[in-house]
Amino acid sequence: MKHRKNIVTFCLLLAGLSFFTLNLKSQTLPQLGKDPIKKVVEAMTLEEKVNLIGGMGRIGDMPEAIPGIRMNDVLGRAGVTYPIPRLGVPILVLADGPAGVRIKPHRKDSDKQYYATAFPVATLLASSWDKELICEVGEVFGNEILEYGIDIILAPGMNIQRNPLGGRNFEYYSEDPYLTGHIASAMVKGIQSKGVGTCIKHFAANSEETNRLEHSSEITERALREIYLRGFEIAVKEADPWTIMSSYNRINGTYTSESTELLTTILRDEWNYNYFVMSDWGAGKNHVAQMKAGNDMIMPGRSEITNSVYEAVQNGTLDEDILNRNVERILTIIEKSPSFRKYQFSDKPNLKANAEIARKTAGESMVLLKNGKKVLPLTNGAKVALFGCTSYENIAGGIGSGGVHKAYNVSLNQGLVNAGFSIDKEVEKIYLDFVKEQKSTWKNNPLKLDPAIPEMELSQMLVDQLAKQMDIAVITIGKNAGEDDDRKEEEFNLTQAETNLIKQISKAFRAQKKKLIVVLNISNVIDVASWRDYADAILLAWQGGQEGGNAIADILSGKVNPSGKLATTFPLAYADVPSYNNFPGTPKNDLKPAYSLYEEGIYVGYRYYNSFGVKTAYEFGYGLSYTEFSYSDLKISNTEFSDKITVNVNIKNKGKIPGKEVVQLYLKAPLGKLDKPENELKGFAKTKLLQPGESQTIQFELTPALLASYDTESSSWMAEKGKYQIQIGTSSLNIRKSANFNLINDIVVEKCHKVLTPVREINELKP
Ligand code: BGC
Repeated sequence: MKHRKNIVTFCLLLAGLSFFTLNLKSQTLPQLGKDPIKKVVEAMTLEEKVNLIGGMGRIGDMPEAIPGIRMNDVLGRAGVTYPIPRLGVPILVLADGPAGVRIKPHRKDSDKQYYATAFPVATLLASSWDKELICEVGEVFGNEILEYGIDIILAPGMNIQRNPLGGRNFEYYSEDPYLTGHIASAMVKGIQSKGVGTCIKHFAANSEETNRLEHSSEITERALREIYLRGFEIAVKEADPWTIMSSYNRINGTYTSESTELLTTILRDEWNYNYFVMSDWGAGKNHVAQMKAGNDMIMPGRSEITNSVYEAVQNGTLDEDILNRNVERILTIIEKSPSFRKYQFSDKPNLKANAEIARKTAGESMVLLKNGKKVLPLTNGAKVALFGCTSYENIAGGIGSGGVHKAYNVSLNQGLVNAGFSIDKEVEKIYLDFVKEQKSTWKNNPLKLDPAIPEMELSQMLVDQLAKQMDIAVITIGKNAGEDDDRKEEEFNLTQAETNLIKQISKAFRAQKKKLIVVLNISNVIDVASWRDYADAILLAWQGGQEGGNAIADILSGKVNPSGKLATTFPLAYADVPSYNNFPGTPKNDLKPAYSLYEEGIYVGYRYYNSFGVKTAYEFGYGLSYTEFSYSDLKISNTEFSDKITVNVNIKNKGKIPGKEVVQLYLKAPLGKLDKPENELKGFAKTKLLQPGESQTIQFELTPALLASYDTESSSWMAEKGKYQIQIGTSSLNIRKSANFNLINDIVVEKCHKVLTPVREINELKP
């Protein structure tokens, strides 16, 4: 094959022709949806097959529209697949991303606007610990996807937040695979209930951005299975996502998109996944290896991709049956798509209603870290001195493919006024002018981070005057991150100007017996330990989407009682992080690291801090409420495990205002052949809104799979005999009730394949 262009032109000509002249001959051709998929594949030419696995190129590279075939009607989408009209195969439209539909808001030929809802970022969603709520978000998100003419959303992202500096952490849920897997499943179910597809990504072990197209994550089999694959496994088995995106990185030296062990042995043979895998945009090098591995679609599609696959079939280095298998999987999904159903999308999702859900969700998920002397909620109509540039410029979400073009962005100054508070107008003007001036130098490239707005120095006179006049001070600290870069070690800490601001305001307001609240509008875990004593209350707002300012105000005012819990640990210092020596690579100061040794093994996040007795600023699972809950009546169905154990526990709101509690079940496993973390999350549930005095019984079920760890020697999931402790806690450290049970004999829960073995020596951490 000479040039893909020739193939493209040929196919498009064919496409156009066949669209207009559906003659008798083409009617006898097999048609997708009417005839078995195998028949459709049999009728495809080799050119059509390689075009289908290749995608139509990046936006802007795409060929001219074919009359009557939708090509350009969803601008800003990340990719489209080839249509084959003579066989009834339409285009499939793919768009990013995890926090909302990412499409262009303006189009040349129309003065209509195509904004999408910016939902809270993934880390905030996971902090709700509320599967029902996330499913509801998924449903409205799914509707927006459908009504904007998209077939598959390139979300959710579900990599593990291995290190606080991970550039895309905001797109991911948690440091814990169980929470990640179940929140992702709820999202996938919600979205797919609207008849559109999801694409869970980036499969797998893609926890950093530095040198992302080359980087190898060097991980042991146990850590891979228990930490980096587990969340994906849960989502695949529970929610059946329509597609999966393989990642840019390598695992133990092999690109994930070229890894038969990952994409076939584990994903298809062990997990029984039947749909299709697409590559990340431009990932991998050897396209024939990608085809063989079961990376069915190579995105976004370029001539060298289709050419090399075409030639490999021609010269016999790629069996056409493999290509057929991949094509079949893609067609299976196309047949389910809105494009195939000829769904008449409106381009008018209900953005108003969806924004309400975004606001509600952000409020249900933000985490109250500190509330000294119950300073929160604020008294009605309090006079607020509002500081910090981010109070006037809400950071709705991160940048890159996880960003969203939203119609508006509610900052905290507006949110507080909407909630009936008064804010000082002089300070507001100073900040608004400063923010405007700073932003005037921004490039506003949605794929590149603009410089953070520095905090300015405020005159002591002004601060003292405000401390006298106003009731309370609020400072927002803002941090952002994005694709293609990790944050730098120094960015873990506040800047000097931010620390100075906190100290200055705290001192002035405390001198007047008034309090300071700090709001964190951040993408990543940062230092809190060095300055938290200066704050009376701290609200971790993460990035709450376009309604962020309203959602923060809902919590500050008490309209919403906070019920979010940390999905990721806040360590006391960056040096405490278990991957400190190996992030973003090995050694850590290598600017373009070829690889990172995952020497912390399974001891990621709280699994490390709790097992090694390392104190943290705020532990995994932590979060305060304006009310208090009591835990009682922990009952377990058996004290000897046979095939399952049912756990019941009673939660009562013993405070004065309604609230919700996240109930967390951790398991402490016996030490046997394998070392075990101090405890591991194996169940969670959120109560309904409990009125004062009201109780609810929460039920969990423990199955053998939940007891098991991965034994590398026998390549199997194994529950080891011995005494287990069920811990019911309000966090991973604050355990309120516990009960023990015994497992008499080891159980081999699942036999797996010996694959993805490390090629480098990994000196794994052991307790
Ligand atoms: C990102 C993916 C994204 C894709 C399409 C890639 O650079 O890593 O997450 O879905 O682009 O925009």
